[in-house]
Amino acid sequence: MKKFLLMVALGLGWSVLASAQVSVNEGRFQKGDNPAWSQAAFNDSDWPVLSLEKDWNKQGYKISNGFGWYRIHVVIPSSLKRGSTDKVLLDLGPIDDCDETWFNGTRIGKTGTTPEDPEGYASDWDSPRRYVVEPKLVKWDKENVIAVRVYNGGDPGGFFERPAFITKPSLEDFVSLKLERKDGQYQAVLHSKVPSRGLVKVVTKEVLSDQVVRENQWKTTVSPRTDVAFCVNMQGQQRVEVTFTDDKFGETLAASVAAPYILTPPAPATPRYNGPLVFGVRPGSPVIFRLAFSGEKPMKYAVEGLPKGVTLDPDKGVLSGSVAEKGDYPLVLIARNAKGETRAEFTLKVGDKIALTPPMGWNSWNCWGLSVSQEKVMSSAAALINRGLADYGYSYMNIDDAWEAEERAPDGRIVTNEKFPDIKALGDWLHSNGLKMGIYSSPGDRTCGGYLGTLDHEWQDAETWNEWGVDYLKYDWCGYSRVFNPDRDHSVAAYARPYMKMQQYLRQQPRDIFYSLCQYGMADVWTWGHAVDANSWRTTGDITDTWASLYDIGFKRQVGLHPYAGPGHWNDPDMLVVGKVGWSDNLRDSRLTPDEQYTHISLWSLLAANMLIGCDIAQIDDFTFNLLCNNEVNAVNQDILGHQAHMDLDEDGVQTWSRDLYDGGIAVGIFNLNEATLPVDLAGALAKIGLEDVVKVRDLWRQKDIPMGLYHIAPHGVLYLKVTVK
Ligand code: GAL
Repeated sequence: MKKFLLMVALGLGWSVLASAQVSVNEGRFQKGDNPAWSQAAFNDSDWPVLSLEKDWNKQGYKISNGFGWYRIHVVIPSSLKRGSTDKVLLDLGPIDDCDETWFNGTRIGKTGTTPEDPEGYASDWDSPRRYVVEPKLVKWDKENVIAVRVYNGGDPGGFFERPAFITKPSLEDFVSLKLERKDGQYQAVLHSKVPSRGLVKVVTKEVLSDQVVRENQWKTTVSPRTDVAFCVNMQGQQRVEVTFTDDKFGETLAASVAAPYILTPPAPATPRYNGPLVFGVRPGSPVIFRLAFSGEKPMKYAVEGLPKGVTLDPDKGVLSGSVAEKGDYPLVLIARNAKGETRAEFTLKVGDKIALTPPMGWNSWNCWGLSVSQEKVMSSAAALINRGLADYGYSYMNIDDAWEAEERAPDGRIVTNEKFPDIKALGDWLHSNGLKMGIYSSPGDRTCGGYLGTLDHEWQDAETWNEWGVDYLKYDWCGYSRVFNPDRDHSVAAYARPYMKMQQYLRQQPRDIFYSLCQYGMADVWTWGHAVDANSWRTTGDITDTWASLYDIGFKRQVGLHPYAGPGHWNDPDMLVVGKVGWSDNLRDSRLTPDEQYTHISLWSLLAANMLIGCDIAQIDDFTFNLLCNNEVNAVNQDILGHQAHMDLDEDGVQTWSRDLYDGGIAVGIFNLNEATLPVDLAGALAKIGLEDVVKVRDLWRQKDIPMGLYHIAPHGVLYLKVTVK
């Protein structure tokens, strides 16, 4: 038998590894489609043999929009049998684009859909195919036939990445353990495809000290199709770790989550001004500005010193109109409610510059992705006001990709698709509430999501957006890569050209349109973005809600960019990934831990970054509100000097970033990038970055002055301070 195994292994390209898995890197292949090829007994001996580690194009086949079949022959040793279940796991790896698979003639699974399916063609080229095979289908210690019918849309096609594996399934192939947030509470949910019994353990720990606060364990039975759910309790900065050890497998599943602890003190009931201290508008352009006061509602507003042409809605606190004359207009913004009155000094700067502080608002992409609609934008806009985020200066409501119709109107005008029945009405509603409307397009013929782009319609689109009342354009390179040939010309001028062209038309519109470049930092855009009169430029690729992404985009790629930001033009490290995100209709809580989320917002505040909320505002919870609406944290982001923070120290996984503020203070973030809690001697840490003679240290999240001493920073967490020196 041994000899036979070895022979076949060499002959057909499969091998048995440490008896825990069999790997196969070849299969017989045939172009075309024939149901008989699914049968085990079919004679494929005259089919050529193809590697599973290279696509079929690389092996001499080209099948676009068509089928090809692989037939994999493999001996499965009985050493793969597992006591509790004799099922085996077939892991075919990713297949380009869709597959349907038979094991010894029985169909065991399908991934992706082909044009003949009722739902139409949908590629799923990059997810690994993992099919569980019932024991009765397996011929132990004998040859088995796996037949895989592959449909390929665009080239290349077929197996392409790695060998197929046949393994013992592990517990997680049958049982899942998840921690979910429901109505502000966490619950653990066990789900199983087979009857399962085992031990549940729940351990609650302090995040900073790792000390166990509570421990509980019990036996539980999980029946197929019936979830077992139980609540887990945490308070403050605690973490809960749940494990489930299955009796038969002897394996353990684990999940853990940290409590979303709140640091921002509640706002006082008396009015408090939380907005920027300046607002820039060009002469003659509409003034759209909402007074950002928190406090008990209803509130009445007044403004002293309003220039001619600007009026105030005293119930909504919305400024509108326009100013013909350039100049600095000092105003006093006043809000009054049942608890008292507050006055705030403010300057309306009528001149050539807009975006004197980084834009604050919302963008649809990180939550809704391509499923954005007018209704969803409206719902987040209403929540921005009703939940009080507008009282903190958030004002832009930016529609990202997927608002465009399939074709332009006969006169070439860009039109919205059916998800946006009346975009002008949306703009009017936003403006009447002192909010602004943003839109997205590409200098290419197509956007990143495959929608219509602006190429060759620049003037027309700028005019149309003006008519709709657009106040912000995110102009995304993406589809322009089809027009652009870096081999021919990769000069800065070539990268700037499409952006230059659009800006010329935007500036001819009778309104201020914030110009946001999105080209991921190519050709060091920060060195020339101001020359195309951009108000911000993305410095990186897309962010996602993981620590790896936050670390790469927020820390690594921002080092050294501070000289390029300032009032009117900002480095944009992409949108926020706190709250419910998902890039689709399926929203989930951000996968960043609470400490990582504090780090995210602190860093964006230090970096003078665009503060564009990326979650569904209608579903915002108290923790996310606490992150987004801390007036002292936001005041650093909106500081009128506009000095972006620089990294002062990078030592043993600790980074310190700081920036000067207009009132003489210094904002300092001490970030712990390690996996373990970091003890910090505050005086020592500040001295290390040259801050001696300290007269005051304020913890910005807790909004209280703190003494020198020993502090502990959670893994991936931050101590965010405002320091005053002599
Ligand atoms: C990407 C861009 C994202 C989003 C997306 C829309 O290129 O970086 O932020 O706008 O396109 O398709």
